Amino acid sequence: MISKPPGVEDIFPDRIDRWNFVKDTAVSVLRRYNYRELVVPVMEFTEVFARGIGADTDIVSKEMFTFEDRGGRSLTLRPEGTAGVVRAYVENGEYNRLSICKFFYCGPMFRAEKPQKGRLRQFNQFGAEIFGSPDPYYDSEIISVVNRIAAETGVGPFSIHLNSIGCRDCRGEYTAKLKEYYRKNSDQLCPDCKRRLETNPLRLLDCKNQACAALKADAPVIRDYLCSGCGTHYTGVKHYLDLEGIKYEEDPHMVRGLDYYTRTTFEFVSERLGSQSAFAGGGRYDYLVEQFDGKPTPGVGFAAGMERINLLIEDAKIPRSGPECFIMHSGGDSLVKGVQLVNMLHGVGISADIDPEVKGFKSQMKRADRENARFALIIGDNELASGRVSVKDLSSGSQEEVDFTAVDSYIISRR
Ligand code: HAM
Repeated sequence: MISKPPGVEDIFPDRIDRWNFVKDTAVSVLRRYNYRELVVPVMEFTEVFARGIGADTDIVSKEMFTFEDRGGRSLTLRPEGTAGVVRAYVENGEYNRLSICKFFYCGPMFRAEKPQKGRLRQFNQFGAEIFGSPDPYYDSEIISVVNRIAAETGVGPFSIHLNSIGCRDCRGEYTAKLKEYYRKNSDQLCPDCKRRLETNPLRLLDCKNQACAALKADAPVIRDYLCSGCGTHYTGVKHYLDLEGIKYEEDPHMVRGLDYYTRTTFEFVSERLGSQSAFAGGGRYDYLVEQFDGKPTPGVGFAAGMERINLLIEDAKIPRSGPECFIMHSGGDSLVKGVQLVNMLHGVGISADIDPEVKGFKSQMKRADRENARFALIIGDNELASGRVSVKDLSSGSQEEVDFTAVDSYIISRR
């Protein structure tokens, strides 16, 4: 037997109703907020992620699935969605069409992390990106979208962690202070952080190493160094969240694991997830479009993990899907009628199934039950003689005879 590689999952029909419920809820909320779906490739040239996410991040330096194509070019399976969406936005000159572009996407992402509960090597995200405005309203709108999806999927108690990590103007003084603090404690830093202290000191705040993480508590916080533009922006985001009654906790040390962020960063966290507690995260990235050689265009977005949200609603009662009709026959002419009926129903948009083998009605009824069918359509000798079908509602147990040609309108009238 060949098994699957570590950190990937098969999702069988017993989990698919919950899975689709999460996806459908997310898409319904995103459409309500006027986001349009965008499908971008699962693989990109490696440079898209190296440039977009940052060479010093764990994602780029340790976790990418990278390989060469036959022409010797380096390709990578996308570890996240934003960099590819920005690449597509610039390459297609989207800013020439709409001044504000609101996109959403869903699909698999790949990170070579150590697999554990809620942490996979192939996982699925849905996410959204807004291009074209620095207005703090949009930061709060993105948080509002995730908040609504979390409420409508019923993930249970969660908290929103919020921070601002400033812009190019305020980072200079702050990173100097950060370097000063960490240099004093450099003997406690992991080898990666010793290197990153010189190249990208903000990354030290995101290190998972125990000793480095402990140092974070007393590190200077960027909020004390925000320039007036970033301070006003941060106040604006909180103002809009307050207007909507969305509760958040300010977390001055949260920088997130990707280099592209400016100003707002946020995470949605549930204690019930254990160590992988964030089920969604995002923020603003006002320089990313120009990093991809596009016209300077501000952006803000989020992504949420499908598997983590599914874990949070594991015990929820999600209606199981099944065919509307399961057709039962006794072989011969009854099977012929059954096949005609199943074809007629498919033609008018009713889901229906039939087992062509001749089996007893009891065993066919069991199968209809297992398939979670709504109606059993029975074609026995009496029905053949009368040109009618016995329609049994499997949830109420009630049964009616319906003319063969009227079965479709009968089923539709009971939806
Ligand atoms: P991220 O925080 O790296 O952000 O990922 C977003 C979400 O994806 C996480 O909160 C988590 O639910 C899920 N996730 C991440 N890694 C794994 C994994 N190994 N296994 C299972 N689930 C995982 C981003 O990806 C950014 N692109 C978000 C963004 C969009 N920022 C701006 N726009």
